[in-house]
Amino acid sequence: MAEAALRLCRADELVERGRAVAFDVLWRGEPVRAFALRFDGRVVAYVNRCVHVPSELDWLPGEFLDAERRFVVCAVHGATYEPADGRCVGGPCGRGRLQPIRVEERGGDVYWYPSPPVEALDFDAPGGPTSP
Ligand code: FES
Repeated sequence: MAEAALRLCRADELVERGRAVAFDVLWRGEPVRAFALRFDGRVVAYVNRCVHVPSELDWLPGEFLDAERRFVVCAVHGATYEPADGRCVGGPCGRGRLQPIRVEERGGDVYWYPSPPVEALDFDAPGGPTSP
């Protein structure tokens, strides 16, 4: 069953080909970071995990795009992804693709939709990220 939308940020926080907004998700049962950015007017979001080696992509917090602001590039070995759909288009990511997350812009805000394998992190759950 699809889960309810979760508010991510104000829509105007995501400027065209600008810095991404980071958020936390549970991906395949593991707490990981995710990111949302605006590309060609549309908000897109992905799990922040390179297909090559499971490491985060950004070269500075929130900075995912290359110098020309055209592709998402991995800071580790330079894998290059198409921002519109997360497809690998160059470098060591092969035929891989970033894990997409469904997002929607509505009423001046951006929402994301947990859907397996990407789920909401429950910070209050026993054994959750904030548990002692
Ligand atoms: S970890 Fe991303 S290109 Fe190697």
